[in-house]
Amino acid sequence: MSKIILTGDRPTGRLHIGHYVGSLRRRVELQESGLFDKIFIMIADAQALTDNADNPEKVRQNIIEVALDYMSCGLDPDKSILFIQSQVSELTELTFFYQNLVTVQRLQRNPTVKAELQWRGFSESTDGNDNKAGTPVGFFCYPISQAADITAFKATTVPVGEDQEPMIEQTREIVRKFNATYGPTLVEPEIMLPDNAACLRLPGTDGKAKMSKSLGNCIYLSDSEEEVRAKVKGMYTDPLHLQVSDPGHVEGNTVFTYLDAFCKEEHFARFGECFHGRKVRFDFHSLDEVKAQYRAGGLGDMMIKSFLFEVLNDTLAPIRARRKELEQDLPYVYEVLRKGSEIARAEAAQTLAEVKRAMRINYFDPGVLEELIAQQQERFQ
Ligand code: TRP
Repeated sequence: MSKIILTGDRPTGRLHIGHYVGSLRRRVELQESGLFDKIFIMIADAQALTDNADNPEKVRQNIIEVALDYMSCGLDPDKSILFIQSQVSELTELTFFYQNLVTVQRLQRNPTVKAELQWRGFSESTDGNDNKAGTPVGFFCYPISQAADITAFKATTVPVGEDQEPMIEQTREIVRKFNATYGPTLVEPEIMLPDNAACLRLPGTDGKAKMSKSLGNCIYLSDSEEEVRAKVKGMYTDPLHLQVSDPGHVEGNTVFTYLDAFCKEEHFARFGECFHGRKVRFDFHSLDEVKAQYRAGGLGDMMIKSFLFEVLNDTLAPIRARRKELEQDLPYVYEVLRKGSEIARAEAAQTLAEVKRAMRINYFDPGVLEELIAQQQERFQ
């Protein structure tokens, strides 16, 4: 069986380093591994509209931001198919058929949907006349549409963050239900989670559990060097570590979480003597050594922040440079998306045809109509 990846992001903002360690970096590695027959990377604009119906302009503006972030991280249109969800209308058709296989109660139990309903303020509207907005049906059903995204491409592997686990589980249920009801047609996908705990959920620069635009605690892939430097400088560390000589805590210390996610062994040799042109003594050979010294006392926050900045910048500088180039060639980027959407559409159309055949709603397919007419004629003889 072919190995196929599908994954994607909602275009509601620029991508940040949480996206990078949680998913983007892995996608590029998978792309380069040569282990996959096809890789589909989707900009989920239709899903973004499920809770931004009144703001399509925001979604439209962010499509190019996400595409630039993708390509500057190394997603290569010659190896991966980058496309826009709304341009593959077959996905909505699949969604419509899958909706019959899922109960309202099951959707209500989906933990990610549950949490999102809470923080988006889509609280229950009882009579539609109170001041509560209520839940848009499209939003409520987005896990079903996500099952369509995945199955349309017969994806075997879905690399995503932890918050997407309930979506993949629901997709698997839909696949099993479909295949049991209509005959084996769809492929059951596997989730692929980040393998490093720090990458599973990178906290915001303020130490809050999640990076989010509304909290203003993100480091974006497109941030300038100066922006990154300032954000690192202001980062949350250990509030009890007041003097350099004080013993410090590593657990729950955002600087160390970021180091866990970004630091490589080579960084110690490269940055050990010099942070951004300034001579320093940062005489460590591994992150464990740095942590031990911080715990013991005698290692200042400014020091570890300067090191973190170098480590981050080592990853971000090439991404930033590539983005600058791509920003100068937007017709090319849009052409990549247009072509990718065309290819994606052809793939999804094939799956949709198989789905309709399995459901026996392919009345006008070659051979089917003749058979149907013969069958009905017998009834009306
Ligand atoms: N729900 C994903 C997010 O919020 C985006 C998405 C839509 C997706 N369809 C998908 C991810 C299919 C993986 C597979 O980022």
